[in-house]
Amino acid sequence: MRIRAEELSKTYDRKHRALDSLSIDINMNGIFSVIGRNGAGKTTFVRIMSTELLPTSGRGYINEMDVVDQADAVRQDIAVVPQEARPLPWLTPLQTVSSYLMWRGYSYREANEKGKDALRELGLEGKENEKSRKLSGGQKRKLMAATVISSEAHIVFLDEPTTGLDYLSRKELWQLLSRMKKDRLIILTTHYLEEAEILGDQIMILDHGKLVDLGTIDNLRNKVKLPYVLKVNAENFKLEDDEVQIHPVSEKETFVYGSASKIYGLIPYLVTNKMKFTVEEASLSNIFEQYLGSGEDDENEEEDR
Ligand SMILES: Nc1ncnc2c1ncn2[C@@H]1O[C@H](COP(=O)(O)OP(=O)(O)OP(=O)(O)O)[C@@H](O)[C@H]1O
Ligand SMILES: [Mg+2]
Repeated sequence: MRIRAEELSKTYDRKHRALDSLSIDINMNGIFSVIGRNGAGKTTFVRIMSTELLPTSGRGYINEMDVVDQADAVRQDIAVVPQEARPLPWLTPLQTVSSYLMWRGYSYREANEKGKDALRELGLEGKENEKSRKLSGGQKRKLMAATVISSEAHIVFLDEPTTGLDYLSRKELWQLLSRMKKDRLIILTTHYLEEAEILGDQIMILDHGKLVDLGTIDNLRNKVKLPYVLKVNAENFKLEDDEVQIHPVSEKETFVYGSASKIYGLIPYLVTNKMKFTVEEASLSNIFEQYLGSGEDDENEEEDR
């Protein structure tokens, strides 16, 4: 499966640039995690690539079909759960999934069977015949995911499918996504960086509509200057050193990002001072913080353009 963008841009209201000349080429089966701060352009990217929104300039392709000129053909190949999507309150979960599947061409029987399977896999079997308005917020999100997951679509867009899910429910969805990714490309936006790292075969970081980086977690880690993290458990740990980045987590814990040689060079000092510590490779959240942590949240930056 392939999704490709060529200098894709979107400007809202003639001034707000939400996507800025994004060029990517993802040609694989698996999970493509898209991360970035609020307003980074993730949903705009999903909406354009899933034919819901027209780009201002540039091109997008789904399996080499143009998302503007061949939108009808693209729609055959994709399924989408938008960020704010909720099930119709007066339908039951089973009706929600099976009506979607029938709309995609399945027979009534097939749609019911597949629908039941998907609901069971997401732990909603006890609720399949209740009205969806009686579901909790998280159960509604799961139902939306079950809907597209049960379809045959090759490319699936899930815009923050796990927001609001409890930890165990998130893990159920992770397992389901991992099982279904073999012959599909799943585009997953999320604010849970642990999830983006665990699931993402490729990870894209967006900021202000621009590509910050894209690659496997190892690719991303190899590109940052400070790929190691020292986690020190000590009261008010202080260190003056230009070659490391210090991130206090709490009064009792401090993260120090640095190169391998720098971090390992600090160990004798920590041992001598009887401080507790661990050394780890940078996680995606550490990498994200290195890339974006110092930038202020400059929502109004572009106002005077
Ligand atoms: N319909 C719209 N009209 C005008 N501006 C918009 C519209 N939709 C989004 N924007 C702006 O475009 C930028 C990107 O928005 P987008 O929804 O793509 O971000 P996001 O990365 O999905 O954020 P979040 O993590 O909060 O969902 C934001 O600054 C937002 O204010
Ligand atoms: Mg969004």
